[in-house]
Amino acid sequence: MLKSITVPENDPIAIEEKRAIIDQILEQNKHLPGGLMVILNEVQSQIGFISEPMQQYIANKLHVPVSTVHGVVSFYSFFTTTPRGKHTIKFCMGTACYVGGTPQLIEKAKQVLGIDPGETTPDGQITLELCRCVGACSQAPVIVVDEEIQGRVRPNKFPQLLRLIQDEQKGS
Ligand code: FES
Repeated sequence: MLKSITVPENDPIAIEEKRAIIDQILEQNKHLPGGLMVILNEVQSQIGFISEPMQQYIANKLHVPVSTVHGVVSFYSFFTTTPRGKHTIKFCMGTACYVGGTPQLIEKAKQVLGIDPGETTPDGQITLELCRCVGACSQAPVIVVDEEIQGRVRPNKFPQLLRLIQDEQKGS
């Protein structure tokens, strides 16, 4: 018997076709060793995020505590609990970058975009995230725009960088 869950009506769990996708992923992978990780990966890539109700639903179906699912989702930065924007800007929180200016960059991004890391702009265009060292420490501070590493980024260059992303968008 499933534990009852309060599900907002726009959550994938409440949308029949999305729930069918999640059910299929569960069915195909629940007996695999390490199945939870495979399932969460598939859900993230096919649905785009793993909301709290989705975590609860998956935990119920797999008969594991929701804290187990939540622990995995919150540990790995490629899982998100809300939909990501069209573009993602990640700030490296590794030591070299942190000492080299990541906090000032985050502050600038907050001023310009009005959102904190972990949030998406209301127009759904940009998500800010934090990440661990990406191995480009000599270029600290580093940000990752979509999959592209940008090094030695200064706070006063951030607005220019945003314009580039926006222009690219208009051109595409
Ligand atoms: S600390 Fe940022 S790339 Fe290594």
